[in-house]
Amino acid sequence: MERQFPRRIKSYVTRAGRISAAQERALSEYGPALSVPYVAQQIDFAEVFDREAPTVVEIGFGMGETTAAIARARPDVNFLGIEVHTPGVGALMKQIVQDGLSNVRIIQHDAVEVLEHMIARSSLAGIHIFFPDPWHKARHHKRRLIQPPFIKGVVEHLAPEGYIHCATDWEEYAVQMLAVLEGEPGLSNLADGYATAVNPLVERPRTKFEARGLRLGHGVWDLVFRRRN
Ligand SMILES: C[S@@+](CC[C@H](N)C(=O)[O-])C[C@H]1O[C@@H](n2cnc3c(N)ncnc32)[C@H](O)[C@@H]1O
Repeated sequence: MERQFPRRIKSYVTRAGRISAAQERALSEYGPALSVPYVAQQIDFAEVFDREAPTVVEIGFGMGETTAAIARARPDVNFLGIEVHTPGVGALMKQIVQDGLSNVRIIQHDAVEVLEHMIARSSLAGIHIFFPDPWHKARHHKRRLIQPPFIKGVVEHLAPEGYIHCATDWEEYAVQMLAVLEGEPGLSNLADGYATAVNPLVERPRTKFEARGLRLGHGVWDLVFRRRN
């Protein structure tokens, strides 16, 4: 059978990363309740979140502060965060418990495989991809997440009217994102080019990685597209 997401080049490298005692504790204490183990089998959101509600997936939440802040602001929405980096998973679990959030779950696995095997077609209210690794060097560009075959797969997982919100602080990647998203016939741009803070869907707390980019003098580019029916 032809794979829906043909690329197998990973968009990340597994970093050892230092894990704090608190993150480790969060993983062992809250992991069983808050995480969904990776299995190559479709999941039922109503079962995972214990309620019927629109579900948004976030790919690569890093340390998860933004995920938690958005989940606090939108209690009526389920958020499924996908991240491979263990300290970040522990940090988000700790934050979820600290904030008493009941609308966040985590899958620690490659998001490309999670979408392909665990998420039903036409099921997502939205997808957030904030500051995906820019892979600066030309010979690494093939590792970038935002590429036509991946976006085609993403669109198939969005519900009609579902949205994708991407952001980057790397101008050259922003140009690529705009070209890829505008080149996908299943999507329509909610803005004229890059989205601005005037668009309510673009309102999001500043991410950790974004703050770092701003300190380095980078700009920020947001892109918000909706699935055409
Ligand atoms: C540059 S960081 C940005 C983190 C966060 N969104 C922020 O803005 O602070 C990108 C994150 O995406 C994660 N990532 C990259 N590719 C991934 C994939 N295929 N599946 C899951 N996570 C991925 C990396 O582990 C990393 O934590």
